[in-house]
This record gives sequence, C-alpha cells and structure tokens, in this order.
Amino acid sequence: TEPFIIAIDGPAASGKGTLSHRIAQVLGLRHLDTGLTYRAVAHALLSAGEPLDDEATAVAAAKRIDLGALEKSVLAQHKIGEAASKVAVMSLVRSTLVEQQRLFANALPGAVLDGRDIGTVVCPDAQVKLYVIASPQVRARRRWAEVQERGNLSGTDASFETILADIEARDARDMGRADSPLKPAQDATTIDTSDMSIDAAFEAAMQIIEQHR
Ligand code: C5P
Repeated sequence: TEPFIIAIDGPAASGKGTLSHRIAQVLGLRHLDTGLTYRAVAHALLSAGEPLDDEATAVAAAKRIDLGALEKSVLAQHKIGEAASKVAVMSLVRSTLVEQQRLFANALPGAVLDGRDIGTVVCPDAQVKLYVIASPQVRARRRWAEVQERGNLSGTDASFETILADIEARDARDMGRADSPLKPAQDATTIDTSDMSIDAAFEAAMQIIEQHR
C-alpha cells in the first residue's frame, strides 16, 4: 500500500492553508504547511543577524529545521513571510527543504502538503493536485481582516494598500523565480475561491478528492 498524497499549491492568502488543514483533519492524514519550512529558515537567519542571501549559511540553517517543531505563532509574522520568499529563491535551500518535505509526504498513510511547488516538484506523483487561487483584491482583504483581528501586533504599516502591494510583489517574486516558480501542475485542478466561503471551497475540494480515491 502506498501513501495517499494531496498537493495543494497557490499564492499567499489564497485560502490554501485553512483548506489543507481541514482536508487533512477530515481524511485523517498528516498536514505540512511547507511555507513554514521556508519561514523557519528566514527566522533562524534573522535572529542570528545573518544575511538572507548567503546560500551556504542558509543551507546550514535549512539542515537544522525540525519539521515537528515549527512554531506557527512566531513564523506567521509579516516580515518573516517577506524574508522567506527571499530565502526561497536559492536552489540549495530549496533542495534541502524539499528532501525533508518528501520524507514527510511519503510516510503512511499519506499527507496533505501545501505550498508553491508541491504538485510540480515536491510530490509530482500526488494522487490529487489542487491549485487554489483568489484575486489579489480578495486576498488583500482577507489578510487585512486577519491583521485587524490580531490588533496589528507587529506595528507595521498595515493599510489595505500596503498589504495589496506586498501581495502583488510576493506573487511576482514567487512566480518569476527560476527554480520551482509558482504555477499550476499540468494535471492540477484550479479552485478560484474569490467568491467562495471557506465551506464552499472545502466542498469543492472534497468533490475533486473523491474522484481520485
Ligand atoms: O505560504 P507562505 O506565505 O508561508 O510562504 C512563504 C514564502 O515561502 C513564499 O512566499 C514562497 O516564496 C516560499 N515558499 C516556497 N515554496 C513552498 C512554500 C513556500 O517557495 N513550497
């Protein structure tokens, strides 16, 4: 028997994280938010005062990441997301993290992985591949609402306009990089959540998954 793997890719704030968590829970699979692995490397470098663009230093940090101890609350910070997308352009950092992500994915009974390159690079043989998108306006509105809820603890300029500009800049960096750019796998099914509630997106995803079980 082989592991059942669900690959979920998409841009920042598309809703793929919430969706992945819920799918994993309902199907009894493990879940890995691979964005957290890039964020953990960025966080390690920032805390040590190391540069974000030195590949050897970043690879050393990537080798020390513990997938079982990724602290979501710390890593969720906006500036760590920005730093992560810089760290993520380095090929040796990617291959180091991808190796760990594959080990996670391939343990039985299987797993849900979400990120940018799961269906294209990390798990090209995944039984189900979803590509979750939403318009930049909608994603910025969702992020903005999250920041309001948290009381903007980070103290950064979190106006709607700034958040929208950041989302567009991050899309450009993630889609434009040479190694493993964000794009749908050729056999992925796209779900546009712009006009969908979380429940509706979940139902749409489960229908696609059922067709592959
Ligand atoms: O999804 P999240 O916002 O946590 O990801 C942070 C950054 O990590 C992304 O902007 C992207 O540059 C990088 N990333 C990646 N490949 C993945 C997951 C995240 O390059 N599979």
